[in-house]
Amino acid sequence: ALERTLSIIKPDAVAKNVIGEIESRFEKAGLRIVAMKMVQLSREKAEGFYAEHKERPFFKDLVDFMTSGPVVVQVLEGENAVKANRDLMGATNPKEAEAGTIRADFAESIDANAVHGSDSTTSAEREVSYFFSAEEICAR
Ligand code: CMP
Repeated sequence: ALERTLSIIKPDAVAKNVIGEIESRFEKAGLRIVAMKMVQLSREKAEGFYAEHKERPFFKDLVDFMTSGPVVVQVLEGENAVKANRDLMGATNPKEAEAGTIRADFAESIDANAVHGSDSTTSAEREVSYFFSAEEICAR
């Protein structure tokens, strides 16, 4: 099915100057960028985005990291976009990520893991609307 998913290029990958290389992987895999922005997240915005992890021991480190520098947020559209993006990203922990995935190639640690991607179509809907209004998404 044609799906949309939310993708975030995290502060570590922005600092490494690999925004273009990561976007290029999405495009080469047939995903289309239908919305995109670069933003510095406030603590409040990052905490709200990751609200489901609020009770986890890594929550504070996660929010510290996600607010440590700018991020690039995009909506990717394509056939089975949620899974397609997750396949491109590789495992959450880059040490477990398959060779050739974004995290294997660009990430350093489970915290500084280069990218975020929605884990289901349900969370994709929530995450897309958390960052983008309907007018900011350019339907094709
Ligand atoms: P992300 O897909 O952005 O969703 C939550 C993030 O928490 C995850 O990527 C990791 O960067 C970070 N994180 C840190 N520790 C863990 C952990 N033990 N399990 C899952 N995610 C973790």
